[in-house]
Amino acid sequence: MTILIEHPADLESNFGEKNVHAENNNNELVLDGGFPLPKSVSQNGFSAPETNAFGHSFRDYDAESERQKGVEEFYRLQHTHQTYHFVKKMREEYGKLEKGEMGIWECCELLNEVVDESDPDLDEPQIEHLLQSAEAIRKDYPNEDWLHLTALIHDLGKILLLPQFGELPQWAVVGDTFPLGCAFDEANVHHKYFKNNPDYNNPAYNTKNGVYTDGCGLDNVAMSWGHDDYMYLVAKENGTTLPPAALFVIRYHSFYPLHKEGAYTHLMNKEDVENLKWVKIFNKYDLYSKSKVRVDVEKVKPYYQSLIAKYFPAKLRW
Ligand SMILES: [Fe+2]
Ligand SMILES: [Fe+2]
Repeated sequence: MTILIEHPADLESNFGEKNVHAENNNNELVLDGGFPLPKSVSQNGFSAPETNAFGHSFRDYDAESERQKGVEEFYRLQHTHQTYHFVKKMREEYGKLEKGEMGIWECCELLNEVVDESDPDLDEPQIEHLLQSAEAIRKDYPNEDWLHLTALIHDLGKILLLPQFGELPQWAVVGDTFPLGCAFDEANVHHKYFKNNPDYNNPAYNTKNGVYTDGCGLDNVAMSWGHDDYMYLVAKENGTTLPPAALFVIRYHSFYPLHKEGAYTHLMNKEDVENLKWVKIFNKYDLYSKSKVRVDVEKVKPYYQSLIAKYFPAKLRW
């Protein structure tokens, strides 16, 4: 069965971690805010004139400008509706873990049923993204088996888009994450839309530290609600034996204002600084890549099932 998720315009559920922040090494040009533009040099190095005198691409300009409008609309909604009150409420609600019971691999397969209509890799099931990231890290860090499993499960929280997990809107599931309860740093993409957020004018929340203190540690900071924090909660509350660095990667892999822009570092403690190194390593493998390496799911499945058995109970509460 295939479940189609409806969402506005050109949004794709990975853009917060793939396209928006894709680096130049993916043959994509990156403009302000990190949004990629169509490339003007072909794969074999032959330079084709794909832009006109105004710098617009002949082929992809309309599609790209439509996509950027979709991304901007996404951030307008996200920045308007993610408030301190909202994220506290969501953590409390989902922290009960009473939406269902299933194993990790079962959840991978469930996520596979989510088809994101605007994903540029529509032919590529979600499980391939998970396994591609995991296999790439495994190749470079063969001894860190916890990191292989972390890559496999990092996006499982996207099941929040499915009806049985609340069918949350895109702005409450994907995209960059940021702290609530303190001022919105200008490093956040489309920062201007925070002006629509009720917290923006609340004196309790709009100073640099807000409700926090310097060096209080990210664990004490309320992050915007989405698949990252949800999967962190699920893993922790089900008693995973994954190391703290793994939980940190899962929880903050979309916190681009921190790990790409260096914002909000004043809230970190020493442990956060150590763990951040792993997020930076991980994110290199989570970026959108045009070079597709197909993964034979059945072939690698036994290895990942052994890791799941090592670090998780057979059934988890979600
Ligand atoms: Fe993600
Ligand atoms: Fe991802």
